[in-house]
Formats: sequence, C-alpha cells, structure tokens
Amino acid sequence: LGCGTAYHSCLIGENLLQSNFNEVNSSLASNYEVYDKIKKNHLHIIVSQSGETADCIKVAEKIKSHSGKILLITNQENSTMSKLADYQILTKAKKELAVASTKTYCAQVFTFIYIHKILHNRNYEIDIDTFVKNLNQYLSGINICPVVEELSNDDKLILVGKDIDYITLLEASLKIREIDYIYTLPMYSGELKHGTLSLIDENSKTIVLNTSNDKNKLNNVINEITSRKGRVIDMSYLTNMNVETDFRPIFSIIPFQLLSYHIAISRGLNPDMPRNLAKSVTVE
Ligand code: M6R
Repeated sequence: LGCGTAYHSCLIGENLLQSNFNEVNSSLASNYEVYDKIKKNHLHIIVSQSGETADCIKVAEKIKSHSGKILLITNQENSTMSKLADYQILTKAKKELAVASTKTYCAQVFTFIYIHKILHNRNYEIDIDTFVKNLNQYLSGINICPVVEELSNDDKLILVGKDIDYITLLEASLKIREIDYIYTLPMYSGELKHGTLSLIDENSKTIVLNTSNDKNKLNNVINEITSRKGRVIDMSYLTNMNVETDFRPIFSIIPFQLLSYHIAISRGLNPDMPRNLAKSVTVE
C-alpha cells in the first residue's frame, strides 16, 4: 500500500514478490478496503517516504483496528506511521528535500528487490562495490540532452512500455507531470490499439521504453505509431545497463528523473518546488 511514487514502488514490489508468495496485491492506500477478517498470515506492507501521509495513516489505523500486521518501508525513523507499524525497514536514503521523490523511490525499489532476493536465498548478499561501479558507469553514459531538446516545448506526451517497464513509465509520467507541468499519458503497449491510437498524429510524441532482452518487443507498437506519422522517442538506448534483471527498474527510472529535472531547468521552473504541492500530504 502506498500513494503516488510510493505506490509505484509497491507495483514493482508486487511484480517481484509474486514468485515468493501465493498471493501479493498492491493497492493505493486511499482505495484499500480493510475487510472484517484479516487472515492471520497476511502482512500489509505500507511504503511511505515520510511516514506522515494521511491516506497511509488512515489505512494503517484501519488495519490495526482489525488486528492486522504492518511492515512499514520508510525513510523517516520516528514518524506517525512508525508508531502504528509492527515492523519497519528504513530505506536510509538520507533526507530528501525536493517535493518529487527520486532517490527515495530508488531506495524503496531497492528494498523490494532485496526482500525478494532474501526470500529466495536467505544467504543472499549483494556485492555493493560492483553494484556502485556499474551504476556509476551507467550514469556516466547517460546523455539526456537530445531528449530534453526534443521535448522542451511540448505540453503533452504519451509513454509506452510493457511488463515492468510499464511501471517505470507510470513513475516517469508522474515525475514529468509533477515538475514539468506536461500532460503525460502512460500506456501499456498492447492497449494503445484499444482506443488511444486515435491521439496519434504528426503532432504527437511518444516515448517508448524496453529494458527486456527481447529488443523487438515493442516493434509492433512503434510501427503502429510511425505509420500514423507520430514521432517516437525510444529511450531504451539510454537504459543499456550492466546489471542483473531484478535491479533494472532502479537503473531505468534514472534517465526519466534526469529528463524531468532538465526539462524543468530549461523551462525556468524550480524542479524542487513544483506549484500546488507539498512534500508530504497530510490531508485526506
Ligand atoms: O511520503 P510518502 O511516500 O507517503 O508520499 C507519498 C506521495 O505523496 C509521494 O510519493 C508523491 O507522489 C511524490 N512526492 C511524487 O514525486
């Protein structure tokens, strides 16, 4: 359970933990039904960077009132949520001042990957030096400037991907809406032809992302768009990473975080303080 960016990390968690548990479901904290009987062997994982989000606190109170168990994944040690939770994992991403969650999202996703790995193999240990080396190498290879230039005057954007990339694009879309004020529409690739294709014309721009090993995975959708003269920006080349599959969602969101940051700068917007928003949402 979570809200906004934290919810997107839950979706990644759900995707990974399917292989560890018989039943895993993610839900927006604001849209979760707590039933009278929470099964004894059910655990509620709530993800909240701040531990102060009203929708999360409300759902946590409901879960506790039904004797449910809560594991909190958070970046704040002594929050309101910490007091409600039975267990807590600290993401230790240091303080995040910007309204947009970026490093805390990566830390939340990292936490889910780690839980997934540990549940498969209790002795799992990550070689952190190699991980950091690969991450640094990856970061130094990202040149986001051409994409920033391409999009700097646009006010709407479609983002298309499949499987776990679709979740990354949900988060990417939120970042671009949140700090660049661009209307973004994340789409599951197979769904484009079920209605949204009518938006594609010579003025439309669509970002596609494919981090899978099957490089032809999005060929159909790219053809669907280009044959209608839509412009396709393939971000997949920016996500050429030397890391095992489970860790890819951490690496693949970074070009989009950089993209939203640089578009904001190019438009003279303050990327840390988008209008109408606060770091933590303490009202329902
Ligand atoms: O503090 P939380 O993680 O509970 O906050 C939840 C959302 O409000 C938050 O993730 C929001 O969506 C981000 N600031 C967006 O970048």
